[in-house]
Amino acid sequence: MKQIAFLIFFILLIANYAHADSTTLYDELGGDQGINQFVTRAVALSHQHHRIDFLFEDTDDAELITQLSDQICQLSDGPCEYDGLDMVEAHSGMEITEAEFDIFVKLVIDAMQETGIKHNVRNKLLARLVPMRADIIYQ
Ligand code: HEM
Repeated sequence: MKQIAFLIFFILLIANYAHADSTTLYDELGGDQGINQFVTRAVALSHQHHRIDFLFEDTDDAELITQLSDQICQLSDGPCEYDGLDMVEAHSGMEITEAEFDIFVKLVIDAMQETGIKHNVRNKLLARLVPMRADIIYQ
């Protein structure tokens, strides 16, 4: 009896490890729906922020939300292929400053927080977004 209990415990332990290994950041962000939700909120917050709203005046929001969600899906090891512009092209002519970049990233974090994404998961995405900074500012 003891041996069977031990075997069951061992199988559960292995199953748990296997599950942990296959969980991607995309899953932790809530998949397509979770990502779309915080990206939509981040774009809305950007329109409301007095220091960066002017940059979004002529933006097609639906298109931006689709492209940014796809990109974050791919970046977080999800099942998407981002087929939009590269970061230099996408932000060319905007002359985005470091301060404006920081504000936008802060709004993405705020949006994730509002939609219930955990602190450690927010930080994981942040670590993947920040290296893009050099391609986005002063273009
Ligand atoms: C890590 C940070 C950022 C990422 C990952 C990112 C990503 C993207 C993506 C994927 C697009 C769409 C490209 C396409 O249409 O093919 C885009 C466009 C755009 N981004 Fe960013 N972006 C970032 C930072 C910023 C910042 C800091 C600003 C301004 C403060 C900004 C403003 C815009 C605007 C206004 C557009 C739309 C341009 C248009 O109207 O077509 N982005 N961005």
